[in-house]
Amino acid sequence: MNEKKIVGEKAVDFIKDGMVVGLGTGSTVYYTILKLGQLVKDGLSIQGIPSSIQTKELAQKLKIPLVSFKDINQIDVAIDGADEVDSDFNLIKGGGGALLREKIIASGAKNFIVVVTPSKMSKTLGSFPLPVEVVPFGYEMTAKHIKTLGGKPSLREISGTPFQTDNGNYILDCVFPNLSQPKEVETCLNLIPGVVENGLFTGMTDLVISLDGRNHAVLLE
Ligand code: A5P
Repeated sequence: MNEKKIVGEKAVDFIKDGMVVGLGTGSTVYYTILKLGQLVKDGLSIQGIPSSIQTKELAQKLKIPLVSFKDINQIDVAIDGADEVDSDFNLIKGGGGALLREKIIASGAKNFIVVVTPSKMSKTLGSFPLPVEVVPFGYEMTAKHIKTLGGKPSLREISGTPFQTDNGNYILDCVFPNLSQPKEVETCLNLIPGVVENGLFTGMTDLVISLDGRNHAVLLE
């Protein structure tokens, strides 16, 4: 039973001919994109906007037509995964490092659909360290400022080298003991010089697709 596949594929029910679709990043929305590729092959006419180089390459491989922001007025539906979802559908995102482009896309979408397995659902956010995208210059200073907000930042690395986002920035993964007021933390983090964006997505989600106890996709609104 592939839980990610069930929830990921369910999201395509909301995609209709002619739509501009925001394509998220990660191992759950991967199944949405695969299914969209199949539907496009069968005649569905959509245009996609990818949230990462990885997703762009996948969409191109599947021959999903892509557009850029200059060619559209708005995104009809954006679909993406998340690392954690609270009971108000606020999210932590950025486990894969794509949070900035994902947030730009979600913010421009009429409808934002989140596809997650039940293990990602929690009452209050904070189990997953919050990814914060920062410019490399002076990131040590940026990290100090994050500490004053109560976060414990650590630089994301791959084999001893700083991980770089698609935008050439670093990620600080920040453990926050208390994210019961996520909007406040989201806003305060973005006021710190050096912070480009953070992985809190508050008040953006329109619909969550997850699973019930019998592993059937459920829509949570
Ligand atoms: C990418 O940076 C993330 O925001 C992903 O959307 C998130 O980590 C969910 O990914 P999975 O579906 O792979 O867990």
